[in-house]
Amino acid sequence: MNQTKTKILPPDAHGLREAAEILHAGGLVSFPTETVYGLGADARDDAAVARIYAAKRRPSFNPLIVHLADVSVVSQYVQINDAAKQLADAFWPGALTLVLPVVSGGTVSKLVTAGLGTLAVRVPNHPVATAVLTAFSGPVAAPSANPSGRISPTMAAHVLAGLDGRIDAVVDGGSCDVGVESTIVSCVGVPTLLRAGGISIEALEACLGAPVQRDEDPDAPASPGQLASHYAPAGVMRLNASYAEPHETWLGFGAVDADLNLSPAGELTEAAANLFGMLHQMDALGAKHIAVSPIPDHGLGQAINDRLRRAAAPRD
Ligand code: TXA
Ligand code: MG
Repeated sequence: MNQTKTKILPPDAHGLREAAEILHAGGLVSFPTETVYGLGADARDDAAVARIYAAKRRPSFNPLIVHLADVSVVSQYVQINDAAKQLADAFWPGALTLVLPVVSGGTVSKLVTAGLGTLAVRVPNHPVATAVLTAFSGPVAAPSANPSGRISPTMAAHVLAGLDGRIDAVVDGGSCDVGVESTIVSCVGVPTLLRAGGISIEALEACLGAPVQRDEDPDAPASPGQLASHYAPAGVMRLNASYAEPHETWLGFGAVDADLNLSPAGELTEAAANLFGMLHQMDALGAKHIAVSPIPDHGLGQAINDRLRRAAAPRD
């Protein structure tokens, strides 16, 4: 890919207009959402979507989430059913992605769905994301704005660390509040959790009044992006560590004397918001061996543990 000068745009009227112009011209713009920074392109433009895959060096079988400004336009892209409507009413705008059958004759590029008959859609809850989507006035395909397999970005500086010179612009809207990606639920058939994320499974089940199936067969992931090794910092990770060996850098949780601490108070929301930023800091520190405290496996802890397991998984 040719080297491009990546512009840093402010989230004001001028910056938003420029972001929309770049998207209309088939370019790549990173923007903040409440979960992580996305790398956006016009979802209807094959060449623009192909540029996302090239910039991320992403395997092309891995489909993308389409981001929409407003709940009212979602039915132009996917077929909504009862369970999807219940979840959308409860959690949109927000950190939930729904996988649904794509409408026939839809305008979204086949590269976005990677040839599947389903489409992942999300209405983000972040003023800058909404402003970019509204200024552009169309569907924006956006994976997390990191090179494939690496840590997701929660600040504009993280985006630049991974993709500077490979994308046209990043709208700098500060840090992301939630800090882990959206929860992905397939509503094709029985509602099934494809990825734990910013909305807890307990909250989904309370909304539906029924259990949500888990898609936990690692050999046959229905969400093709769920590769075992992912979100990886450069160092080797050891999980559930109650202390750090002398050669290890300790990523703590709760009242422990660690090098970095996800949440000294032991709060899962704070830990989720800090997770990717602190993994980026481990890279910046040059940590070769990382010990990570145990994280309680409920609420947002499930999303945190999912990301930690992937970050610690054996690598190619
Ligand atoms: O919070 C988020 O979801 C962020 C922000 C930018 O919105 N986006 C994000 O996108 O995490 P990405 O591309 O890094 O992860 C999307 C996941 C992948 O695992 C992909 O395989 C899955 O969604 N996915 C996309 N379309 C799908 C589909 N039709 N069926 C099943 N899984 C799908
Ligand atoms: Mg990602």
